[in-house]
Amino acid sequence: MSARVPAARRLSAFLILFLLLAAAQADERKPSHAAIASAYPLATAAGMEILDQGGNAFDAAIAVSAALAVVEPKASSLGAGGFFLLHRSSDGVNVFVDAREVAPLAATRDMFLDEAGQVVKGRSTATALAAGIPGEVAGWGHLASRYGRLPLRQSLAPAIRIARQGFPLYAQLRDEIAAKRAQFEKTPDGRRTFLPHGDVPPLGYVLRLPDFARTLEMISRAGVDSFYHGSFARKLVDGVRKLDGIWSLEDLAGYQVTERKPLIGEYRGARIVTAPPPSSGGIALIDGLNILSGYELGKLDSVTRKHVIIEALRRVHRDRAEYLGDPDFVDIPLDRLLSPYYAAGQRASIRLDRAMPSDMLPGYTSAAGGGRQTTHFSVLDREGNRVAGTVTLNAWFGTALMVTGTGVILNNEMDDFAIKPGAPNMYQLVGADANAVAPRKRPLSSMTPTFIESDRGLMILGSPGGSFIPTMVILGTLNWLSGASAADVVAAPRFHHQYQPDAVFAEDGAFTGEERAALEQRGHSIRGWPATIGNMQVITWDYAGDQVDAASDPRRAGGSLVK
Ligand code: DON
Repeated sequence: MSARVPAARRLSAFLILFLLLAAAQADERKPSHAAIASAYPLATAAGMEILDQGGNAFDAAIAVSAALAVVEPKASSLGAGGFFLLHRSSDGVNVFVDAREVAPLAATRDMFLDEAGQVVKGRSTATALAAGIPGEVAGWGHLASRYGRLPLRQSLAPAIRIARQGFPLYAQLRDEIAAKRAQFEKTPDGRRTFLPHGDVPPLGYVLRLPDFARTLEMISRAGVDSFYHGSFARKLVDGVRKLDGIWSLEDLAGYQVTERKPLIGEYRGARIVTAPPPSSGGIALIDGLNILSGYELGKLDSVTRKHVIIEALRRVHRDRAEYLGDPDFVDIPLDRLLSPYYAAGQRASIRLDRAMPSDMLPGYTSAAGGGRQTTHFSVLDREGNRVAGTVTLNAWFGTALMVTGTGVILNNEMDDFAIKPGAPNMYQLVGADANAVAPRKRPLSSMTPTFIESDRGLMILGSPGGSFIPTMVILGTLNWLSGASAADVVAAPRFHHQYQPDAVFAEDGAFTGEERAALEQRGHSIRGWPATIGNMQVITWDYAGDQVDAASDPRRAGGSLVK
């Protein structure tokens, strides 16, 4: 039969089929509006400026994170690292850009211990030894060259402008500078930049970051390699060595951004696209939702609903300490941890009427956490490209040590390693061999940039908050899937359990008086929520009515725009 179809007709049929297939691939929905949510309005505006100039979501992500490095310098920074979860609408590709810091080549397993094998207080948080080799700048280069449409020069321009012209100091940043004052005192550049006139500047003081601007201008001109090689790299290494750090030129020259496949999960028909290791967050999110998928959460009374969520959190955090670390160094039983069968086993040990003491779970320990500083932003452009980015110096301003003449603040990401098995880090997390320090290894993270896709539409979300991050993303997902708006998702009161300490952390309003009493009756011990935790930035796109929305956590100074 087909032999009788004229060749020209066959060819055109093939051509049509090919075009249809290509169109189907590219035929992703396009939102009517772009949106950006970030931790500070000037950074959100910087991203919008770049979208207005014809940039895509990836260019805007560079502009937002570079501007955050100016206006929220405690979190995003030239000296920071982070994760960027991307979705490219032209071919539907999801990719996880891992620009996490790595341990220097001279790092050793016991570098934070004294001769007696005890943890030296502050060494992994407040000294130059705490600093991993930064990846955020390399991440910008990667985004610009592989995914962006504009030259890096253009995407970095708003951040350079703000750093040169300055911006008025706002209350939260002032508090954060005050909290790190003693560390800023330790370097001339720290004093000059953040303690001008010898003191924490007053509210409204126009804060300028000229050294930072100069370094960004160098990167604009000469590309991100100029940060990792040559005279600037030498200046960085010399500066770090003067502060008794161990960075080398080889460390900087050898830094590599890694592209990883995002983890994909499913929860009641919704698709979860999230962070793979070296984040622990995506596993916690997918396994937590797998456990919860065995319950009709909407039909449970509110106490039982919150109880089973707490019990799921207890179980997913137990596994973190045991199994997780940099996947380039350790074998992670990913298939098992993400399997519905595994979750069914975890679920089987949950009693509806009683809290299970964490000690009754097998194996290793993890302990109380709390975030200090990190920042998340979400971007959606009108083509449907999207970015969920979470970047961090770890604690507020990391070590808050500044390297002379570079604008670089040293992170303290090395504290995210298990610096000694069983010794809690600053988030009270402990870990095992999987997360021990080793040269060029990435410390385990909790950052969980995520996309949720369902019949309702799309949500882009994430938050800072150390070990509380995966919980916040789980609660945000459950809320959105039950119909909450972007504003409701970021505002909803939160509760958290991380296996050890065996306690529920709860914000005011997370439980009513009766719920609290009933949960205590079931055996939960309830504590207050650490004030600094959480700064969620959410974009939602409801397909019905093509409604794009963005919201910033009302707990902090964020800004969101839809345009
Ligand atoms: O990567 C991590 O998990 C931590 N360095 C994140 C720290 C953090 O979120 C602090 N923020 N509040």
